Amino acid sequence: MNNNKIRQLNNQAIEQFDQEYVNDFQWEKIQNLINKSFPQNNFCFLDIGGGNGKFADRILATYPLSTGTILDNADILLSLNKTDPRKKLILGSVEDLTELFVNCKYDLIFFNWTLHHFVKDSYAETRKSQAESLINASNLLSSIGYISVFENIYDGIFFKNLPSYIIFCLTSSKTLAPFFKKMGANTAGCGVCFLSEKQWHETFKKAELLVSEYTNFDQWPFSIVHRLFLHLGLVRVGHFWVSKKVLK
Ligand SMILES: C[S@@+](CC[C@H](N)C(=O)[O-])C[C@H]1O[C@@H](n2cnc3c(N)ncnc32)[C@H](O)[C@@H]1O
Repeated sequence: MNNNKIRQLNNQAIEQFDQEYVNDFQWEKIQNLINKSFPQNNFCFLDIGGGNGKFADRILATYPLSTGTILDNADILLSLNKTDPRKKLILGSVEDLTELFVNCKYDLIFFNWTLHHFVKDSYAETRKSQAESLINASNLLSSIGYISVFENIYDGIFFKNLPSYIIFCLTSSKTLAPFFKKMGANTAGCGVCFLSEKQWHETFKKAELLVSEYTNFDQWPFSIVHRLFLHLGLVRVGHFWVSKKVLK
């Protein structure tokens, strides 16, 4: 049945997300961008898929004038949050963003390794759901607002977008799930949709967002077998700092 909803990750996969993904180099980048964009340091942020709140806590501790909200559809992860009077938690899915945040504006909206989880029943619907999430988030931005996106970027050897499609088909298949679970794919059966750098740029363009800065982090090593099987070229973490296009 195609109910056109984002697929919900199982508890086993969700428990593995109880960690902090942003490393010291990535954190330094975020701080530089925040300091440059919000020199008064008094901004309010929304962390979409912010899970256990470790990233939000780091922002709140570094910027005492900031306030933050975390949206996540996994109550297990939200329950791990430290309480903080400047932090609000909302249990819900990104696809209900517009209904959940009526009359709300944010200076900064984070998508830290979450967009690749907004998986629907087909590749096309999934790509659409990623673009729609960005469009709906951009409608919540204040006039000085930015969206910050960390993603694992998968570029193919010759065909840049091919690994994205292969990985989606393999991980979203329910038939193949037992096999890929054994191989360590925590999203097997549910699916994951990583994109190439080119695809992300196209997605931002579609969402009428302007990439003002893009940063590549260290390349990941893969065995030759994985490289050939998945057609993997350059794989690394990438960071996009984007804002709304000023319409003339
Ligand atoms: C890989 S984890 C990243 C967690 C956190 N952003 C970080 O960087 O540490 C993905 C997160 O996205 C959340 N997520 C997945 N699908 C979601 C949805 N439809 N709506 C809101 N959050 C979602 C998961 O529950 C999880 O917390």
